[in-house]
Amino acid sequence: MKIRTRICVSLDGYVTTPDGLPAQLGDPAWSPEAFGFREFQASCDAVLMGRTTFEPALAAEAWPWDDLDVFVLGSRRPANTPDHVVVESDPARLLEKMRGANRGGDVHLVGGPRTIETFRQLRALDLLGVIVLPVLIGDGMQLTPSLGLDTRLTLESERSLPTGAVEIIYACA
Ligand SMILES: NC(=O)c1ccc[n+]([C@@H]2O[C@H](COP(=O)([O-])OP(=O)(O)OC[C@H]3O[C@@H](n4cnc5c(N)ncnc54)[C@H](OP(=O)(O)O)[C@@H]3O)[C@@H](O)[C@H]2O)c1
Repeated sequence: MKIRTRICVSLDGYVTTPDGLPAQLGDPAWSPEAFGFREFQASCDAVLMGRTTFEPALAAEAWPWDDLDVFVLGSRRPANTPDHVVVESDPARLLEKMRGANRGGDVHLVGGPRTIETFRQLRALDLLGVIVLPVLIGDGMQLTPSLGLDTRLTLESERSLPTGAVEIIYACA
């Protein structure tokens, strides 16, 4: 099991729009299919995210993670969270639960930056994947300051997507 991010970032370095929406929503070409998320999730058993990233999914028209196991790092269980979602306040315990449930696939660490850093500090983040979007946003949240500046990265692969975005995958030391 590898823990992998695939976080979308604007060309000027923002993972959110100024009003806190994921940066990909600022790209007119955005769709989970066009960005290869369906294909990516087919290689995963589970998704992992922080409570802030998870909560909007509760109001989404369709559940975004099909039959994947869902693990949320947070100190409280948001109202109307489906029973199968595991919510845990301690990152090490959440990691243990994910490993216990794993059926051999990877875990998609959806975000956001605080949760990515939490698992990186536990040395559990295997691959830091970013999708660089051909859009400029001007303001919003960046990976830093959440992500530690001691992050050591080794290039694993890069490819361009049909939308004009570029996917870059780094291994974390
Ligand atoms: N561009 C993209 O692809 C993408 C992807 C995902 C998210 N995002 C964006 O990222 C933003 C949210 O990022 P974020 O970093 O602020 O929040 P986040 O990581 O999604 O969630 C933060 C929450 O997770 C819990 N948490 C995180 N680290 C913890 C730790 N060490 N110990 C215990 N609990 C911990 C806390 O929950 P409690 O408060 O309940 O304790 C904390 O408030 C959103 O605006 C979202 O749109 C963008």
